[in-house]
Amino acid sequence: MKRKIKILYVSAEVAPYAQVGGLSEVGRSFPEALMAAGGFEVVRVMPLYQSVNCSLKYVADYSVPMDQGYETCVLKKDPDAKEVPTYFISNDRYFRRDRIYAYEDDGLRFFFFCRAVVQMLQSISFHPDIVHVNDWHTGMLPLLLKKEFPGIKSVYTIHNIAYQGFIPAAFLEGYLSEAEKLRLGHPEWLNFMKAGIIYADLITTVSPGYAKELGMEEHSHGMGALLEERGDKIAGILNGIDMEHYNPQSDKLIPYPYDAGHPELKKKNRTHLRGLYGLPDKDIPLMAMVTRLDQAKGIDILLKAISYSRLSTYQLIILGSGNPYYHGILSGVTATYGKNIVADFCYSEALARQVYAAADIYLMPSLFEPCGLGQMYAMRYGAVPVVNPVGGLRDTVIPPGQGRDRANGFHMECWSGQALAKEMERAVTAYHSPEWRKYIRNGMRMDFSWQNSVLEYRKYYRELLGRT
Ligand code: GLC
Repeated sequence: MKRKIKILYVSAEVAPYAQVGGLSEVGRSFPEALMAAGGFEVVRVMPLYQSVNCSLKYVADYSVPMDQGYETCVLKKDPDAKEVPTYFISNDRYFRRDRIYAYEDDGLRFFFFCRAVVQMLQSISFHPDIVHVNDWHTGMLPLLLKKEFPGIKSVYTIHNIAYQGFIPAAFLEGYLSEAEKLRLGHPEWLNFMKAGIIYADLITTVSPGYAKELGMEEHSHGMGALLEERGDKIAGILNGIDMEHYNPQSDKLIPYPYDAGHPELKKKNRTHLRGLYGLPDKDIPLMAMVTRLDQAKGIDILLKAISYSRLSTYQLIILGSGNPYYHGILSGVTATYGKNIVADFCYSEALARQVYAAADIYLMPSLFEPCGLGQMYAMRYGAVPVVNPVGGLRDTVIPPGQGRDRANGFHMECWSGQALAKEMERAVTAYHSPEWRKYIRNGMRMDFSWQNSVLEYRKYYRELLGRT
């Protein structure tokens, strides 16, 4: 029997321990999918945030060099994580805080995390062939590994190039030549994203569409030249979703389970959710968004689209939290259009799934979207997506007229309030047509499982290790 490939998977977020965005869903489901596929032994590590709510077992403690001194890392493990053994890097100064991100010293916090992960390799009996890291928070790891464990290969997955992370050069004193420092951003602060791009043995991103976009100046957020140097080494592999976890037929969090053969049962879920939010139960479509309230998610153009659209023809539920500016504006909007529009800033996974199950139309007018998971969850639950076709949205949503009879959603013509209003109206018209059932069915039958992506990753991992 062939020896299993050993992978240490490193992420700042892993659901359900810590969840801010889609990174956490991938942190949960991708390592599990690798284990289920066979041929891999995967161990996972993340920071121990204050909000992690489970009892952990002490494993070891050790000192981690930081700047001129040392910080202590206490390594812990979740004794109940059976599928994928999961370790936690704990340090009160850096991670015992109210939030997960958005501190002035985020660079220092995640540099500590990277260093502590490298040191951890001496404290556990698991010796990885590959360390697979994700997004800027872990971008310094490929560099540290090259210097300290040159025999271990590193894979760097970019989930969002817009966030990059910085530390002063003093933190890498003794590690880098002047030329290397300059490439990382010196005399300004050193850039985590650059380190990941330069030092990783393989770079991947979360959809083929985003991989192409990263090659364009307007999407690369200043990383264009470095990415170009790597050229064909960037693999765009579409994220999967956990099709069992997100399954309308067996989902215990929704009141009325249903399957692709009986999408009309969805209507019961819609009536239930309308009741919950005080929306009248009429034969007009329910639109929904489950989202971080962030400019890049298209909230501003949504507000414009609402003002251009005929409000009596649809209802809208927005579920999510984020920028307080949008909380304020959306509260104003719902005060004005309370019979049609609801905004709920109390996110929960149960509510999110009830929204997917209830929605007829799902809006995703993102400015950019490396992969996007919401549109996949929506289709799995029979909600028809209206999207700005960028990144993974273009790869997953098929508009009418493209691909015979495979249409499962609508594409905006450009990123504007007017273009969104136009597609919303098109979707409302389609909702009242016989075609609608087909759109729902096509979406529900899409295979968004991890299976294909795991095969692609397997190919790349094996190549890296020189295995055929
Ligand atoms: C980031 C991206 C999102 C992607 C997710 C998981 O949150 O913005 O598009 O789906 O990571 O890869």
